Amino acid sequence: MIPQPEYTRVVAPSSHVRSNAGEITLNGEWRFQLLNCGSTRGDGSITVPSHWVLPANSGRGNPIYTNLVYPIPLDPPSVPDNNPTAEYERSVEVPADWFGTGRVFLRTEGIESHAEVWVNGTRAGSRLGSRLVHELDVSDLVVPGRNSVRILVRQWSIGTYLEDQDQWWLPGIFRDVTLRHRPEGCIDDVWVRTSFDPETGSGTLHPDIRAESVAWPIRLEIAALGVDATFADPSQVHTIKIPSVLPWSDESPALYEVTLTSSGESVAFATGFRSVTVKNGVLRANGRPLNIRGVNRHEIHSERGRVFDEASARADLELMKRHNVNAIRTAHSPPHPRLLDLADELGLWVMLECDLETHGFELAHWEGNPSDDPAWRQHFMDRIERTVERDKNHPSIFSWSLGNESGEGSNLAAMAAWVKHRDPDRLVHYESDHRAEYTEIYSRMYPALEEIEAFLADNGPIAVSHHPASHVTEAEAARARTLPYLMVEYLHAMGTGPGGAADYQRLVESNERMAGGFVWEWRDHALKTTTQDGRPYLAYGGDFGEVVHDGTFIADGLVSADGFVSSGLLDWAQSVAPVRSSWENGAIHVSSDLRHTTTESLKIVWRIERDGVAQADGVLALESIPPSSGRRLAATSELSSAVSDASRGTSGENWLTLEIRHGATAPAWLTGALIHRSQAPLNQYVSDPSGSERGEVRASETKRTEQTEPDLVVGPTLVDPANGGLLRIGTVPVNDLGLIAWRAPTDNDRGHGPIDYLHAAPEATLGAGSGLRGPSSADRWQDAGLNRLVSSSVGSTLSDFSASAHTRWGAAGSAAAIDCVRSWTQIDANTARLDVRISPRGTWDTFWPRVGLHLALPNLLWDVEWFGLGPQESYPDMRSGAFLSRHQRPMNELVDPQVHPQEAGHRSDLRDLALSSPSTETIVRIRRVHGDLGFSLRAWSPQELDLAAHPHELPTPTHAHLILDLAMHGLGSRSCGPDVRPPYQLRPRELSATIDFSIS
Ligand code: GAL
Repeated sequence: MIPQPEYTRVVAPSSHVRSNAGEITLNGEWRFQLLNCGSTRGDGSITVPSHWVLPANSGRGNPIYTNLVYPIPLDPPSVPDNNPTAEYERSVEVPADWFGTGRVFLRTEGIESHAEVWVNGTRAGSRLGSRLVHELDVSDLVVPGRNSVRILVRQWSIGTYLEDQDQWWLPGIFRDVTLRHRPEGCIDDVWVRTSFDPETGSGTLHPDIRAESVAWPIRLEIAALGVDATFADPSQVHTIKIPSVLPWSDESPALYEVTLTSSGESVAFATGFRSVTVKNGVLRANGRPLNIRGVNRHEIHSERGRVFDEASARADLELMKRHNVNAIRTAHSPPHPRLLDLADELGLWVMLECDLETHGFELAHWEGNPSDDPAWRQHFMDRIERTVERDKNHPSIFSWSLGNESGEGSNLAAMAAWVKHRDPDRLVHYESDHRAEYTEIYSRMYPALEEIEAFLADNGPIAVSHHPASHVTEAEAARARTLPYLMVEYLHAMGTGPGGAADYQRLVESNERMAGGFVWEWRDHALKTTTQDGRPYLAYGGDFGEVVHDGTFIADGLVSADGFVSSGLLDWAQSVAPVRSSWENGAIHVSSDLRHTTTESLKIVWRIERDGVAQADGVLALESIPPSSGRRLAATSELSSAVSDASRGTSGENWLTLEIRHGATAPAWLTGALIHRSQAPLNQYVSDPSGSERGEVRASETKRTEQTEPDLVVGPTLVDPANGGLLRIGTVPVNDLGLIAWRAPTDNDRGHGPIDYLHAAPEATLGAGSGLRGPSSADRWQDAGLNRLVSSSVGSTLSDFSASAHTRWGAAGSAAAIDCVRSWTQIDANTARLDVRISPRGTWDTFWPRVGLHLALPNLLWDVEWFGLGPQESYPDMRSGAFLSRHQRPMNELVDPQVHPQEAGHRSDLRDLALSSPSTETIVRIRRVHGDLGFSLRAWSPQELDLAAHPHELPTPTHAHLILDLAMHGLGSRSCGPDVRPPYQLRPRELSATIDFSIS
C-alpha cells in the first residue's frame, strides 16, 4: 500500500510575487533535538535554513553521497527503523490584526525529506517533496500573540524513493519558512502568460487570475508599456495585446514590472515577452533557432549544502554568463525561487526540472519502479503541479522537465499531459522518453558524435545498440526525428577535462535541429571539511564513513567546489563562443551567431607578439553586425602597419591575437569578459619543425664532448653515458628517471563506460565503441605495466661529437617494450642538444597515456616561464581555450586545485621553457628544436599522485617533477560518456624530438 501525499493546500501559487500582505520569516534560531540516529550532539539549537548534518562531523550525523544506489534498502514504501529524525521548535508572534481579516499560511520552501507540523500542539499536516514549496493553512490553529511551531523532520520517507538524484543526502529544513497573512480580497494566484510575435514586434499578455469574489475588481498595470486594465470580475479578464515590446532573450533580457491590485492586496513581479516553439524539428525562441549553450546546475555550496545564498548564486550566474553560458537546467529539482528571478534578470534560459528521480530501481532492472505504478500516480502529479505552479511566471523558463532518470512509465506520461494542459506554451522534457511519446524535445545524455549524426539523418537507428533508445520502432524513430535534439547532459566535467567540446560544438552548428546541450555539470559538490588533525579539505563520497557511496563521482563540475574556474570551462567557453573573429587576407572576419542582438556592445582587442612578447596592441570597436551573419572588417592603419612589420619579421614567431570581448556598455560584471580568441601566424618563420636547424650547427662550432670518467660534460650539462640520462644542468642536480609512459589516471582514464574506442573505432560503430563496460584505460595501463617500466641498457656509443645511449623500457613479465635512444651533442659551451627517439617493440594492446622524459629536479619553488600554449593546461582534445604566448607561473599554480589527485597541468606546443628559483643561480632553459613537446612540473611524481585519494594525503615533496612530453593521450569523457576520439588517441608509435638545454 503506497500512502498518498498529504497536503492541505497544493501550493502557494502567488507566493513568489512581491506582496504588500503581511509576512513573517521563521528563519533563524530554532530549538533542535535529534531524536535518534545515535547522535552525540542531540539537543540545542539550530539556524534555519540549514542541514543538520553540516558542518559534517559535528555529532549530528553526516552527509551521505550516492549516485544510483539508494542509501536504504529498496523496499518501498518502508524505510529503516533507525531513521534520523529531528525536532525543530520555535515561537512566533502573530499580530492581532491578522485575525478576522483573512487566513494564515505556513509556507516551507524546502525540507528533506518528510516533515510533520504542529502549531500550538495541534497537528497541522505534513509535507513531502524535499525541494518543492508547500503551504499549510494554519488559520484555525494560530492565536494572536505568541504561538509555537514544531516541525518533526525525518530523513527517510516514502519521498526518498522519488528523490534518488546523484547528490548528497542532506536532511533538514534547508530553505525558508514563513508565515503569511492572506488578507480578505487577496490574490490567490496570478499568472501572466506572455508571448512575442517576431513578425510584428508585438507582445501578448494572457492574465490568469484566481481570487475570491470579494477581491474584484482587480487592476493590472505595466507602467512601462502603458498597460492599465481593470477587470470587474473573472469573466472580464481578457488578453491584452501590446503593439510594440522589447522581447526577452538570454542576449537581451528585457523585463517589465507588472502590478496587480485587488481589494485586499497588491502584488508586483517582473515579466518578459518571448515565445518558444518547435518548427520543423527546430527549437526556436522568438522565431530564431535557439542554441542552448548550457550547464547543468545543482544547488550546492561547499559549506552550506543546498542552502541558498543569493550573493553566491548571483556570482555563479554571472560567472556563467562571462563564459558564454546562456542556459541552465536545474538539475535535478527546482532551485530556490530567487534563482529564477536572477535568471530572468541576467538572461539565462532555464529548463526547470521537477524533484523526481527513481534511478536506484534500475539496479533492480526497474522492477517496482514507481514511475509505472498507478499507486504512486498522485505523488508524481503532486510534484509536477507544485513545480509548475511555483515558477510559471518566469520568462526564462522555456521548458518543464518531468524529472531525471526515473525509467519509463504511465505516471510520467500523466505528468506530461497535465503540464501540456496547464502550460501549452512551454516544452515538456524528459530524457528517458525514448519513444518520444509525450515529450517535445528529443533528449539524450552523453551521446557520441556519430550517434547524433545518425539521429539527424533521415532514417536508420537513432541510438547505439547498447542504449534503450535503439529499441524503438521505426514509427517511433520517425516521430523522434520531428523533435529538436538536445544533449541534456554531455561532456562529463569530472577531474581533468572534459575532452572534446570543440567537436560537439561543430556538430551543434552543423544542423539547426541540434538544439545544443547542457554540460554535466557546473560545479563540484565536494564539501568542505577537516581531517582529524584539523587540516581543511574537500570531501567526497566515502569520506564520512558511508556504508555505500559513489566516491569522487560527486566532483564533476566545470567550477571547483570553492569556485575555481577549470581549464575545461575555458575550453568549452571558447568552443561555443557565439561571436568569433579570424584574420584572413589582411582583414578581420567576424561571424556572429547571436540570435537576437547585434554585436554593437562588443569590442575587438588585438595584440601582436614576437616569440610571445607583445610588440603592438590596440582595441577596435565592433560595429553592429546583425544576428547570425558575418562581416569583413578592414584593419585600421595602426593594425595594418603592425601586421606588415611583423609579417616581414625574419626572426622569431610573430602572431596576431584577436579577442572578442564584452565592451563598456555591457553590465559592469560582464564588461571586458572574453567571448572568443583567435590567433594567426604572421611570418613564415617556424623555429624548426623539421629539424633543419640542426644542420645549421656547424661542425667547427661543435666542440668535442669531454669525457670526465664516468660522466660526460656536454655543454652546460652532465650526462650519464650509459643511459643518456641527465645528471646536472648548470648547477642544478637532476635525478633523471628516464622514459615515462604513464600518467596518474584521470577520472576519465578510470572510466569503465561502454563507449570504449580502443578496439572499436567510433566511425565503424555509430560511436558506440565496444558497447560493453570493460576495463578502463587506467586498468589497461596497469595491466600492461606502464606504471612500472624498468630500463635495460641496449648499448651506447661515444664519439668525438656525440654520445648516444639506447635503453629499453619494459615491465616485469611483459614482452612489449619501448626503445628509447637518447643522443647528446654539444652545440656550444652553453648548449647541449638532445635527440630522443622512441619506438614501440612487441604488442601493446592499449593506448599510451603519454611518452616523455621524467626529470626529478630539486624540490624548490620554481618559477616557470614558457612560450607555448597556456596559461592554463591543455591536452589534445582540450586545447581551444589555451593560447600561444609567453606565460609565467610559479610551480604551485601550474595545476588547478584538485579534489582527487590525478594527471593535470600539461602544457602543449611548447617552444621554450625557463626555470628559475631564488635559491639557484642558474636559470635552466629548455628549447624545442624539432618535434612536438609539452611539459608539466609538479611537486609530486605520477606514482605519488596516483596513491593519494585526497590532496592532503600527498607525501611531503622530495623533488620537483619535470616531465617533457613528446606526446600525450587525450582526455575524453569516459567517466560518463565517450572515450578519447581517434585524432587525440596516443597509440603506440615512433616519436622523436630534439631539445636544447642551456643555462643563463
Ligand atoms: C547522469 C545523471 C546525473 C549524473 C551524471 C553523471 O546520468 O543524470 O545526475 O549522475 O549522470 O555524473
